Amino acid sequence: MSGPRTIALAFTGASGLPYGLRLLECLLAARVQVYLLYSPAAQIVARQELDLTLPTQPAAAAAFFSERYGAQPGELTVFGREDWFSPVASGSNPADAMAICPCSMGTLGAIAAGLADTLIERAADVMLKERRQLLLVPRETPLSAIHLENMLKLSRAGAIILPPAPGFYGRPQTIDDLVDFIVARILDQLGVEHALGPRWGAARAVAPSIERA
Ligand SMILES: Cc1cc2nc3c(=O)[nH]c(=O)nc-3n(C[C@H](O)[C@H](O)[C@H](O)COP(=O)(O)O)c2cc1C
Repeated sequence: MSGPRTIALAFTGASGLPYGLRLLECLLAARVQVYLLYSPAAQIVARQELDLTLPTQPAAAAAFFSERYGAQPGELTVFGREDWFSPVASGSNPADAMAICPCSMGTLGAIAAGLADTLIERAADVMLKERRQLLLVPRETPLSAIHLENMLKLSRAGAIILPPAPGFYGRPQTIDDLVDFIVARILDQLGVEHALGPRWGAARAVAPSIERA
C-alpha cells in the first residue's frame, strides 16, 4: 500500500486525546512526515485526561514528541496557532491528507462555516478547497441538530466523518484495545499501513487454505 507522504494532524479540545496521541505514534512509526497542530483547548484536555502538559512553543513540542515517539529529524514539524507562513496555510503546498483527532464541535462548526481564524481551521479549509483528504474524528454526546447538520455539510463537501465509536465484537480487554480499534480505522482511511489488531474475516479467509493443505 503506498500511502500519503505528508499528513497534517490536529488535536482539538474534545475529549479523546489518547486517540490523537496513538495516531501520531503510528504515523511516525510508519515513517510518514507529520505536521502537528493543536489548540489551546487541546492542551487543557491533555492535562485533564492524561496529566500531560503539551508544550506551548512549537519547537519544544516537536522536541517533546520526537523524543517520545522516536521521530527522526524532519519527520515531525509542529506549527503554532497562527503560523500563516506554514505549508498547511496555503493551497500551493498542502499536506496529502489531514486528520483532526479528536475534533471538537467548535472546530467542526468553524470548518463547516468556512471560518479560517486559526491555522487548524485554515488548514482544514485548504484541504476541502484543494480536494485533499480531510478526516474528522468528532466527539460529543448526545449530538444536537446543529452538530449533525455541520457533519452532513462537511461530509457533502468531501470530508470523512469518523466518530470514535469502537466495535465490541473483537472483545476488547483494555482501553488501549478500544483506542487501537479507532486508530486502525483512521489509518485505513489515510492509507497508512499498520498491524493494529486482526481484520474482520481474515482468519476465515486463511482457514480454507489450511484445510486444503
Ligand atoms: C476536559 C474537557 C473536555 C471537553 N470535551 C469536549 C468534547 O468531548 N467535545 C467538544 O466538542 N468539546 C469539548 N470540550 C469543550 C471544548 O474544549 C471547547 O469548546 C473549546 O472551545 C474547543 O476549542 P478548539 O476547537 O479550538 O479546540 C471539552 C473541554 C474540556 C475542558
